[in-house]
Amino acid sequence: MTQPIHGGNVYKVAREQRIPVGRILDFSASINPLGPPATGLRAIRAALKQIVHYPDPDCWQLKQELAQQCAVDADMILVGNGSTELIHLLPRALTITSALVMGPTFEEYTRALTDAGSSVQYVHARREERFRPPLKDALRQFSIKGSRFDAVFLCNPNNPTGQVMDRLAVRELAEAVERQQGWLIVDEAFIDYCPAQSVMPMLREYPRMMVLRSLTKFYAMPGLRIGYLVGASKVVERVKDCQPPWSVNSLAQEVSLAVLRDHAYATMSRTFMKGERSRLMRGFRHLSGLYLYPSAANFVLIELPVSTCAAEVTARLAAKRLLVRDCSTMPGLTSQMIRVAVKTEKDNRRLLAALGSCLGKP
Ligand SMILES: Cc1ncc(COP(=O)(O)O)c(C=O)c1O
Repeated sequence: MTQPIHGGNVYKVAREQRIPVGRILDFSASINPLGPPATGLRAIRAALKQIVHYPDPDCWQLKQELAQQCAVDADMILVGNGSTELIHLLPRALTITSALVMGPTFEEYTRALTDAGSSVQYVHARREERFRPPLKDALRQFSIKGSRFDAVFLCNPNNPTGQVMDRLAVRELAEAVERQQGWLIVDEAFIDYCPAQSVMPMLREYPRMMVLRSLTKFYAMPGLRIGYLVGASKVVERVKDCQPPWSVNSLAQEVSLAVLRDHAYATMSRTFMKGERSRLMRGFRHLSGLYLYPSAANFVLIELPVSTCAAEVTARLAAKRLLVRDCSTMPGLTSQMIRVAVKTEKDNRRLLAALGSCLGKP
């Protein structure tokens, strides 16, 4: 099984540079820079006494809360050890043998699909169209005689382009996928930054559509591993049948319950991100030669000047203990592209200064 490259491997860099993890500024994983909410940390401390028991294999209480927030029935939800676990369960559980992936996107879909023996085709958003989601190309694929997919994977907002497919367009896609009797899997790992775009309210209309969510990014707890899948109860049950027992530990369940109820943190995070993302984008614009793609999430895709190479710039920044995501190997992107997470103003200033000097600016 080949490992795709993901952001966030601070441990490897720390080992290579013989420095503590705490000395690295990680812009390569898109984690809420405000850190985990205090309500979540308190919940973990309170839940520590529970570790003498196995976790609730049904995540019953957490599912009640999620059901209420998502306005669905609790039996439409499956909680997983990060949404990555669910991405890997889906192809086997739904016996997917052919899939269409809307790219360029998170590479774990391809890995999960190929591991399960599925073929994978792509429709890539185009750089010339500022990576507008490739709805038309997807519809064209469906119209090709004999072309049929068991499943379509859409990441919305999309990692790494930051683009959102609006609900009308998703509806068009869902209709086409339903006609083929396929599954439409919409990954909303970054939807908390633009909740009005969620397709969750469309689930009842499209029983073959499923929504994936993650709590790790928005609540800044990727080390705890928690995500969930929402879809028709019968289908969710099929996926659950493939899941190992006790995948989701009790601390993750308790902390999730607490953070989901922390509406003040959610509002503060969205307001913060809007302001800080704009400020960071303005900073990048002062470094001439960069092309920025607008983003609805907490990261920005950047195209470096043609004379540079993303791998080299990434390595030079890493030497300064700043990690960014080199996107040059991602199918559908160019060798000048990097993705950076939006962090705090102070951290972002460090990145701007370091990138400026890497590109030969004072
Ligand atoms: C689009 C997308 N989906 C899902 C995941 C997996 O998140 P997790 O397994 O932490 O829930 C990631 C992680 O980077 C991602 O970018």
